[in-house]
Amino acid sequence: MMNKFNVKILATGSYVPEKILTNSDLEKMVDTSDQWITERTGIKERRIIGKNQNLSDLAFEASKKAIEKSKISINDIDIIIVATISGDMPFPATACILQKKLGINAVAFDISAACSGFIYGLSIAKSFIESGAYKTVLLVGGEVMTRITDWTDRNTCVLFGDGAGAMVLQASETEKDVLSVHLGADGTYTNLLNMPAGGTAMPTTHETVENKLHYIKMSGKEVFKIAVVKMAEAARKALELSGKKDEDIALYIPHQANLRIIEAVGKKLGVAKEKIYVNVHKYGNMSAATTIIALDEAISSGAAKKGDIITVMAFGGGLTWGAAVLKI
Ligand code: ACO
Repeated sequence: MMNKFNVKILATGSYVPEKILTNSDLEKMVDTSDQWITERTGIKERRIIGKNQNLSDLAFEASKKAIEKSKISINDIDIIIVATISGDMPFPATACILQKKLGINAVAFDISAACSGFIYGLSIAKSFIESGAYKTVLLVGGEVMTRITDWTDRNTCVLFGDGAGAMVLQASETEKDVLSVHLGADGTYTNLLNMPAGGTAMPTTHETVENKLHYIKMSGKEVFKIAVVKMAEAARKALELSGKKDEDIALYIPHQANLRIIEAVGKKLGVAKEKIYVNVHKYGNMSAATTIIALDEAISSGAAKKGDIITVMAFGGGLTWGAAVLKI
């Protein structure tokens, strides 16, 4: 069946907080070293949200930039989707708080797919637009990972950072920029990466706080192995769905959790280093914000040029994964 509409990407925007935490700062906080962090992850520094900021503020800044660049009227936005696992509150959705800050009447909701959230959001936006349900979508990937990080746990605290990215997508009868999206999930691995307390299975008590159960828990080694396999697989499936060939892809934008994961995925796909976008050294892992911030930076720096076909891929808690082939 032919879709009624195609999806055009009007613009992207991103925002990271000003405060920088370097590896040498971390050396003073936990038993770690710049050398260990650099060799094992590629991360040199990450951004930390300001005391008076929340996720909705980061999302607001990123959205403003994307909306301005898209040249639409802000009231054209029909729906706001925020991908996050670190929203302002357990409920309501951060998308609703963002809607109020933007001063518009759009439908608003959050989605939870951890680091894959932005790709999941792309798939939802694509379906809404192609079906004719909504015309203009504001899609945000944003996180405040540093507020759900245990700053005494060297296994996790060196990895994460804060930020938000946004994309405005619109129905088009002529242009097609979202060529394909492929998603996957495997709930048998929920134990490998989670935040145990604060949900209804383990409500907050003195004990859950004392036992630090409101922070990210991760079995890094296991997650690493599955991430490499699933991101490469997702990229191949998205490419197949797009009808494009390997040689058509100008740039790959993988989730930026760890430089070694990025390099292993590149090797598995047989892609030259120069074709893989990397910014993990500057920001660490910003979960759902990572791929959209990397995409926005790749566009603004000229690493991705107008008309380029690119593959964006991600992997995260759930476990979830996904990839999309886009025309920039
Ligand atoms: N500084 C110094 N030593 C450390 C640190 C640190 N910051 N962290 C761990 N170590 C130690 C460990 O204690 C261990 O010591 P031991 O051998 O005495 O026990 C040693 O270093 C090696 O630890 P490993 O876990 O084997 O290190 P590895 O090479 O696997 O790297 C890492 C760990 C960086 C976490 C890696 O496994 C990784 O990146 N995993 C994937 C993360 C990811 O992709 N997450 C998904 C997205 S997150 C989300 O969805 C929210």
